[in-house]
Amino acid sequence: MSAPSIPTLSAHGAELPAIGFGTSSLGDCGEIVATALGLGYRLIDTAWKYGSERGVGEGMRASGVPRSEIFLTTKVSHEYLRADDFARSVEESLRNLGVDYVDLLMIHWPNPEIPLSEPVGALAKAKRQGLTRHIGVANFNIAMLDEAIRLCPEPLVNLQAEYHAHLDQTKLTQACRKRGLIFTAYCPLGRGRLLRDPVLADIAAHKGRTLAQIALRWLLQQGNIVAIPRSSNSARMAENLDVFDFTLAEEEMNRIAALKRHDGRIANPAGRAPAWD
Ligand SMILES: NC(=O)c1ccc[n+]([C@@H]2O[C@H](COP(=O)([O-])OP(=O)(O)OC[C@H]3O[C@@H](n4cnc5c(N)ncnc54)[C@H](OP(=O)(O)O)[C@@H]3O)[C@@H](O)[C@H]2O)c1
Repeated sequence: MSAPSIPTLSAHGAELPAIGFGTSSLGDCGEIVATALGLGYRLIDTAWKYGSERGVGEGMRASGVPRSEIFLTTKVSHEYLRADDFARSVEESLRNLGVDYVDLLMIHWPNPEIPLSEPVGALAKAKRQGLTRHIGVANFNIAMLDEAIRLCPEPLVNLQAEYHAHLDQTKLTQACRKRGLIFTAYCPLGRGRLLRDPVLADIAAHKGRTLAQIALRWLLQQGNIVAIPRSSNSARMAENLDVFDFTLAEEEMNRIAALKRHDGRIANPAGRAPAWD
């Protein structure tokens, strides 16, 4: 079976596949990443903090997929946002991954103790040094995003944040659209919680698709959104890629949007999480 063709989204010259592969908690994931690439994933999301960078590098090499065909993202952790620490962290990530550059480098979380000018300057420097092709942020609110855009001499192409049907992200996704950034949805399956949702199950049964496919399709169909589900199971990895040959009706999109909950947020670390929009 040939690998599915995945549509891409573009911003400031960056071309991101609409579905990527998440690697948090996968640890020593060489085989899993090689399997994901073999199935057709072309965006691999990692972070220094996940401890999966070495595995991602091994998986990329084992897959035989040329480096130039892979969109590789990593992130600098909030402890290392001072300019010097940031630069060291980027070097360590590249060593872990065994690559000369990543495609997208992000600030993983803001750090209220460190002025944004430090990591933003370091991001731009990493780009100018050729250590990353593009730069972005994760877990920023709109005010922080605007400050980062104002401070940064290079364009930010992406904001990565939690998004799934149980969490309303209307304001942040619209802010990204208006500012020309792609929005990457992490925890797109609510880290598994969405898979018990009866409305999603009902729509899935009606469409003859799986519940995970409905949850992912709902994100992608909004436009300007990339989703990065994680799975350690090859059948589920393949299932999560197979979301481009059907559409949800407007009424189905609205039913899913109505599933948002006040307690829907999963990633909300005290002391690090900003005042969410
Ligand atoms: N920037 C940030 O701060 C941040 C924070 C969190 C996550 N992320 C990124 O986003 C990625 C995705 O988020 P996540 O890993 O937290 O959660 P997720 O992708 O929402 O959910 C992963 C869970 O869903 C299960 N699953 C996957 N596909 C499935 C399917 N088709 N059917 C049934 N179950 C399925 C997986 O189990 P199996 O393995 O058994 O399939 C796993 O338990 C991360 O891996 C990471 O790369 C970024």
